[in-house]
Amino acid sequence: MPESSVRPRRIVVGVSGASGAALGLECLKCLRQAGAESALVVTRGGEITIEQELGMTLDEYATHADVVYDNKNIGAAIASGTYPVDGMIVAPCSMKTLAGIASGYSENLLLRAADVQMKEQRRLVLMVRETPFSAIHVDNMARLARVPGIMLMPPMLTFYNGPATLDDAVHHIAAKALEAVGVSCANYKRWSWASLG
Ligand SMILES: Cc1cc2nc3c(=O)[nH]c(=O)nc-3n(C[C@H](O)[C@H](O)[C@H](O)COP(=O)(O)O)c2cc1C
Repeated sequence: MPESSVRPRRIVVGVSGASGAALGLECLKCLRQAGAESALVVTRGGEITIEQELGMTLDEYATHADVVYDNKNIGAAIASGTYPVDGMIVAPCSMKTLAGIASGYSENLLLRAADVQMKEQRRLVLMVRETPFSAIHVDNMARLARVPGIMLMPPMLTFYNGPATLDDAVHHIAAKALEAVGVSCANYKRWSWASLG
């Protein structure tokens, strides 16, 4: 690739209506800090959880992204495989959005962008969140686990990194998701015996 066409890593962040709007926000903040470019798309459900869980408007949330796409705009750049994207994270991923991705039912831009990642065999990280899971949820995840590039990463608690606050826990799982799309975050506590000592 010629020098002039080198660009920062470009990651799509999709936010759907599962609990955990803070996960998408942390991904956006880390991407900016790492010098990567973020493209944000939020479902109507995501907008509701952003308001309820973070007390933010979508506009406030979107200030942390480089580009924001309307979820109804199925003709946006990220709807095409020709647009260069280095990966996508859905943070959080609701069971409805999981079902849409698993069935290829791309009726909004987030779903279409995820479908594009799969057809182009690019990395797609799904931070699926629900508890408990039904058999239908598990079937949808099992189907997607076999697709090249897909990584199912529910925001499970981790203890080995010694989180002191919920923010620590959110940062850890967001940083882990970003590692999967080739972006390194500051203060990512990898496993080591020393970290427990
Ligand atoms: C505050 C709140 C929390 C929710 N948490 C979850 C959740 O953790 N997982 C889930 O699958 N759905 C959850 N839902 C329901 C989804 O928002 C709902 O199914 C919605 O239709 C998902 O649509 P979307 O995937 O297009 O955003 C929650 C809804 C609200 C209002």
